[in-house]
Amino acid sequence: MKYLVNCAAQFSFTIFLSLALLSGCTSTGQGSSSSQMPALEIPSLRASQVSQPEGWNDDVALTIPVDLNPDPNILEINLEAKITNMEIMPGKITPVWTYGGSLPGPLIRAKVGDMVIIHFKNNLPDSTSIHWHGLRVPNNMDGVPGVTQDPVDVGDEFTYDFVLQDAGTFWYHPHINSAAQVGWGMYGPLIVEDPNDPKEFGDDLVLVYSDMSLDEDGQFLPPDVGGAFSDLFGREGNIILVNGKVQPKLKVRKGKQQRWRVINPARTRYYTIRYKRQPLIRLGGDSGLAEHTETLDQIKLVPSERTDFVFTPHDEPGTVDWLRWYPTERGYGSTFNRFSEEMMEIETVDEPAVLPETIPYALRTIEPIDITGAKDVLIDLTITFPDDNSVEMGINGIPFWDSSPLLGRIGETQVWTVRNDTDFNHPFHLHGYFFQVLDENRVPEWKDSVDIPVRTELKLAVRFDERPGTWMYHCHILDHAEVGMMGTLRIDP
Ligand code: C2O
Ligand code: CU
Repeated sequence: MKYLVNCAAQFSFTIFLSLALLSGCTSTGQGSSSSQMPALEIPSLRASQVSQPEGWNDDVALTIPVDLNPDPNILEINLEAKITNMEIMPGKITPVWTYGGSLPGPLIRAKVGDMVIIHFKNNLPDSTSIHWHGLRVPNNMDGVPGVTQDPVDVGDEFTYDFVLQDAGTFWYHPHINSAAQVGWGMYGPLIVEDPNDPKEFGDDLVLVYSDMSLDEDGQFLPPDVGGAFSDLFGREGNIILVNGKVQPKLKVRKGKQQRWRVINPARTRYYTIRYKRQPLIRLGGDSGLAEHTETLDQIKLVPSERTDFVFTPHDEPGTVDWLRWYPTERGYGSTFNRFSEEMMEIETVDEPAVLPETIPYALRTIEPIDITGAKDVLIDLTITFPDDNSVEMGINGIPFWDSSPLLGRIGETQVWTVRNDTDFNHPFHLHGYFFQVLDENRVPEWKDSVDIPVRTELKLAVRFDERPGTWMYHCHILDHAEVGMMGTLRIDP
């Protein structure tokens, strides 16, 4: 969910841009200095004429895996899950659970239509699997132990291969003991490029926002720390990470746009992306571009969700400031007595400002799903207290382990009413199929994860167009999924 920039701010921003554009045109051939109006500096260069500052993203660089396959349309990699000692807190060693020894896992990046082959090896002390969050993969590649594959046991290997059907920002993580394993570091970004995306969006910057629960020696707190009480609230880590680092630095140049693709793999934490209320031009989210852009002054990002926007640096050259985490409402007590925290330093380099490129408004056609005759399904997200010391969550009052699958057929369309009568928000996620949120106030887009705030409901349209099999749906506060807020959907041919 997003918040619109208030009209005045948006209006004056537009004025500013058009003024700048106008002056940019009339001042061609002139230097950037004007004796009449020394206060208004007019950039002499456009964003597309300059590069990002030297070393702009070094501090948030992600690991790039080696492509073993010479075919330009196939990305084939080895990926080993293992424990790697890292210095997260200064001077302390943390045994992080990793994909390939890096935090986050390597950036898997290919273009739409490519095939990806991942030779996965489990060298962790526990069984695991990889779920490709948001990707439309064949059912047997979905990575859910007990449902689509056997767990990948200690020392075992499994090869995942699939074709990338949709451009967008995705990610991968285990689907077994996931609250614990994700909390220990098991997540990585997966970007599917669309070679036709307008260049004006700017240079890509993939940012993985997460957190970790560490004690003062840098050791993980037990994954069930806090017991039933924490099951109910969900466990937010005490250390906030951006691309696996505490308070890394990003360098920007005033006016030089960057395309931020932000992923939230945190087991519970919600993020509000906001930088001094400067305009963020949202391009889309879970499954690539939305129908059109939207200018916002902040974007809420719930666990497992992605957002894709153009960040236009507005600070004066030489400014150093913080991108902060803000307490984000997600239900009972979630913002009480909490304060913002410094997340990433943004240094605006001391170079003359450039004129931002114009971002197109219309991005993509999103054909609405035809819901005439669609079957209505109620998904009531529920919390029960079997006794004083435990909490159980479920769908329609039934925890995952007692549930039977929802049913559907290939070619069928359903409208899911996802209702939340509880005191906590739940980020709802469906495997295998994208849905459309039936809400006229939202920009049309394809999604796989959506927040269901306290005591609200959303209607989601979903069409089971291909790939029969059993798919999961669940709350992506992984602590909630762990105590039962999860179900299966069986799509028959
Ligand atoms: Cu991010 Cu069931 O998954
Ligand atoms: Cu939940």
